[in-house]
Amino acid sequence: MGMSIRRLAAACGAEVIGADLVRPLDAAAVQQIHRALGEHGVLLFRDAGITPEQHIAFSRQFGPLEAHVVGEFHLAGHPEVFVVSNVREEGRLKGAVYAGQYWHSDLSYMSKPSLGSLLLCREMPEVGGDTMWANMYLAYETLSGPMKRFLGGLKAVHDYSHAYDTYFAALKERPPLTPEQKAKTPPVEHPVIRTHPVTGKKALYVNPGFTTGFAGMPEEESRPILDFLFRHATRPEFIYRHKWSVDDLLFWDNRCTMHYALADYDFTVRRHMHRTTLAGDEPF
Ligand code: SIN
Repeated sequence: MGMSIRRLAAACGAEVIGADLVRPLDAAAVQQIHRALGEHGVLLFRDAGITPEQHIAFSRQFGPLEAHVVGEFHLAGHPEVFVVSNVREEGRLKGAVYAGQYWHSDLSYMSKPSLGSLLLCREMPEVGGDTMWANMYLAYETLSGPMKRFLGGLKAVHDYSHAYDTYFAALKERPPLTPEQKAKTPPVEHPVIRTHPVTGKKALYVNPGFTTGFAGMPEEESRPILDFLFRHATRPEFIYRHKWSVDDLLFWDNRCTMHYALADYDFTVRRHMHRTTLAGDEPF
């Protein structure tokens, strides 16, 4: 049986029906998924029920994987799997707690940011804990002509430490990055408007999690424009919000979306996810 693609929302997101998550895909299926990813930004595969090894093997068909810079969040024996979790066992957290509870695009702070991420739901509260994605093509396309031209000539600075200095500042479970981790993630610059290598479409490429300002501009000039762009990009009509079921696998494109994990659930209830992260290219 071939695969079919069904849109989930007006903004972005589609469900892939009939994909084999266990056996290798043929080249045409890999290409179809790459294309659908670039077009829809987020792909849902239901009832994935796969092991960490199968999750890694499925993900690798779309490119090499990236290990996260904070090694203690890796799944034991599987450095390719980044664990996002509030679960504690014997007093120890099993993964990154409070991860992604702000708008961001994975690894935008690297010189070659991630192409995409594949998040597998292992445990989820009955209500709450949804994830939202914003369509950054729409964010770009709905800007005025003069704003598009202005931003088209700019680069933005992305810095992983920013998330630690702001969103994690008061959280003892997320201590500051170590000097070694900081050395691996120096601030980098990327075009504010990037072109998607598969669809050829332009997307806004700044995010509240990691973007600190525009290259060559002082904070007082950058901040109001960034604040406007973040408000604009997260307009409700640009958003797909996913209510997770256990075994949902969501594959999103970090080049044309940003995402936000909602912290609206009871933190004594387990929310446990496994993520693989695809390496990417330098944005252009
Ligand atoms: C992430 O940003 O990768 C985590 C998203 C989530 O937990 O929903």
